[in-house]
Amino acid sequence: MLELSSEPITGLYVHVPFCAQKCSYCAFFSEPSSGATIARYVGALSRELELVAADLRPRTIFFGGGTPSLLNLGQWEQTLGTMHRLGLLGAEEFTVECNPATVSLDKARLLRSFGVNRISMGVQSLDEALLERLGRVHSREMALRSFDLLRKAGFENVNLDLMFAIPGQTLETWRATLREAASMGSEHLSSYEVIYEEDTALYAQLRAGKFAVDEDLACRMYEELVEQATRAGYHQYEVANFARDRAPRLSAFETPTYACRHNVNYWRGGSFYGVGPSATSYLRGVRTKNWCNTQLYCESLEAGRRAIESSEELAPLARAGETAAFGLRMVAGWPFEEFCRTTGHDLRQEWEGEMSELAGQGWGRILPDRFVLTPKGLRFADAAAQMFLRSF
Ligand SMILES: C[S@@+](CC[C@H](N)C(=O)[O-])C[C@H]1O[C@@H](n2cnc3c(N)ncnc32)[C@H](O)[C@@H]1O
Ligand code: SF4
Repeated sequence: MLELSSEPITGLYVHVPFCAQKCSYCAFFSEPSSGATIARYVGALSRELELVAADLRPRTIFFGGGTPSLLNLGQWEQTLGTMHRLGLLGAEEFTVECNPATVSLDKARLLRSFGVNRISMGVQSLDEALLERLGRVHSREMALRSFDLLRKAGFENVNLDLMFAIPGQTLETWRATLREAASMGSEHLSSYEVIYEEDTALYAQLRAGKFAVDEDLACRMYEELVEQATRAGYHQYEVANFARDRAPRLSAFETPTYACRHNVNYWRGGSFYGVGPSATSYLRGVRTKNWCNTQLYCESLEAGRRAIESSEELAPLARAGETAAFGLRMVAGWPFEEFCRTTGHDLRQEWEGEMSELAGQGWGRILPDRFVLTPKGLRFADAAAQMFLRSF
């Protein structure tokens, strides 16, 4: 569906830009938490929600960060109360990201009572030494305890985030973390290979020669992830995402029951509002980005204006190229008809050369109704996706 209509937007992302401590690998926008700044942010966020509410009817909501679970009970009550007043609650899927160090039973119950029905918990590893290497504030025990506590509060849809190819991680420690995480029985697993982002402590260590990247080991770890997750009953539906299913799927294009619908909307090129410092929105072909500065963000909203730093309208073909690149990350690939309906362009005409090239090198398959990446192509999805981008 070409989203040029004035139908309300159904996806809402809220960025909470605070962390107890910066992890060594992380480049997401966040700053140390201070009581006064968080209180001011919560007020500004309410203003921003008021400004966008008329154009929103959320079917999926995602509070990410930063560390949303860092907000205290009062701040959550204020935020969710505002959303209730503005008619923004009642989404089919409402996710809040949590760090295991900041989960409490009271907070989990409060979130549940306002309709939050999915928690995404950043576990990263269940190996104590690696958690320390990553600069995480939590221990393995905290991760296990927080998971039990979320279950106790009534959460029946929980994601665990894991990372692999961490410096110092062996295939054995990765296998052990995977085994243990799978036995926890969450509905969803996300697992990312470490990305060395500039301006992070880990990147500086890499540049200083403190360790070397072992690409072969990273490939083995990815294979191990796919094997173990599949054996444990998860279905891979995106490069890094695995979910359980309640019933057999009717077609390859359907995602498993517990797939994250909010993210599926991103990968399929759907519109969404992003609010909070540094958040991006993608609305009917126009991308905007909020200020990556909490102070500026608050000042702008206190003056009654949205805190938009930049806005960009992509040319239709460039937009379709991006949509192609994102959607290829999904195991179901891109059905040709669906792609035409979403973008108005035909993969078989515009990207025939790229699809043939990928098929020739064993990274892709051109099926009668769709284009998909092979398991090998999925491992290198970022490089494959690059080929579909059009810069004009
Ligand atoms: C915003 S964080 C999750 C919530 C919370 N802030 C936490 O860390 O517990 C989103 C996820 O992205 C992944 N991530 C962040 N930076 C990464 C990097 N440089 N390389 C790979 N994965 C990364 C981590 O798995 C992390 O849990
Ligand atoms: S990974 Fe999560 S907790 Fe760590 S710094 Fe990034 S946003 Fe904060």
